[in-house]
Amino acid sequence: MSLSSGLASKAVEPLPLSELTWYRLGGPPRALFRPRTVRELGEVLAACRAEGMPARVLGRGANVLVPDGGYDGAVIQLSGRGFARVRFDGVRVCAGGAADLPRLIRRAVRRGLAGLEGLGGIPGTVGGAVRMNAGGRFGSIGDVVGRVRVYEEGEGTYWIERDAVGFGYRHTDLAGRIVIGAEFELARDDPRRIRERLLSAWAYKKESQPLAAHSAGCVFRNPPGESAGRLIDGAGLKGLRCGLARVSEQHANFIVADEGAKASDVIELIREVRERVFDQYEVRLELEIDVW
Ligand code: EPU
Repeated sequence: MSLSSGLASKAVEPLPLSELTWYRLGGPPRALFRPRTVRELGEVLAACRAEGMPARVLGRGANVLVPDGGYDGAVIQLSGRGFARVRFDGVRVCAGGAADLPRLIRRAVRRGLAGLEGLGGIPGTVGGAVRMNAGGRFGSIGDVVGRVRVYEEGEGTYWIERDAVGFGYRHTDLAGRIVIGAEFELARDDPRRIRERLLSAWAYKKESQPLAAHSAGCVFRNPPGESAGRLIDGAGLKGLRCGLARVSEQHANFIVADEGAKASDVIELIREVRERVFDQYEVRLELEIDVW
């Protein structure tokens, strides 16, 4: 379906989503938009709604799997300096939704601001990380968020205080709203000590996870009190393949896409892993990654 001239004038060349995601998989969206201001964002969303076109916001695509057929809707990537701005004010840091999380972490560490260093090694944008409450062994981003700035159609922009965000295990109640920024409340500490903690978080990740391969991080949520990786490993599934997708030998909750893999290979392998884990443990693994 072709775009109306109103929408087309705001769209940029629609790159295949394989170029915009960590998995390096996925076909093109129907349209790609890169709004640079809240006003442009509002215009794009309104135009999509007027045409009945579904829209999704994409950060760095570090936690998503897009099918080979692409996405039959609009993909919106916040862009431009405004959305990526980072402002330090004492122990508070205000960052735009498109700000790069690893870069923000490094800047905070250099300034002797503690609280984000446990997220070392987690890729993505501030918006994406806040939306899903990204985290790991050393804490989640929600632990240091003071409030979140969102855009909601019909409401415009407003702040949500942390207690109303509903931060949980890889969860927030932010669905239906777009995270355009967040304010973090950090604490002063010796920059060398913070740096050491950053390096050890990073080293832990590097040793236990296939960071150099194409993946979207852990595929399944950890069942309460369990580790999905341990279950998959225990079922003997490390190295299991579908086409060119494979269960990582390094961490069984990672499905890596080898050169030439298709999204359908990963999807098939996800199905196979779930089935085999269920057969062995009667545990139904839930997806942690966002499959479009
Ligand atoms: N384990 C195995 N085999 C494996 C993987 C893990 O036996 O193949 C065992 C480990 O030895 C360990 C336990 O399972 O005893 C837990 O493993 P790990 O410390 O690697 O943590 P995880 O629960 O598997 C979680 C997050 C990761 C995060 C790590 C480290 C989830 C689903 N996963 O993994 O998050 O990086 O802790 O902080 O919550 C992600 O969100 O994409 C992600 C990778």
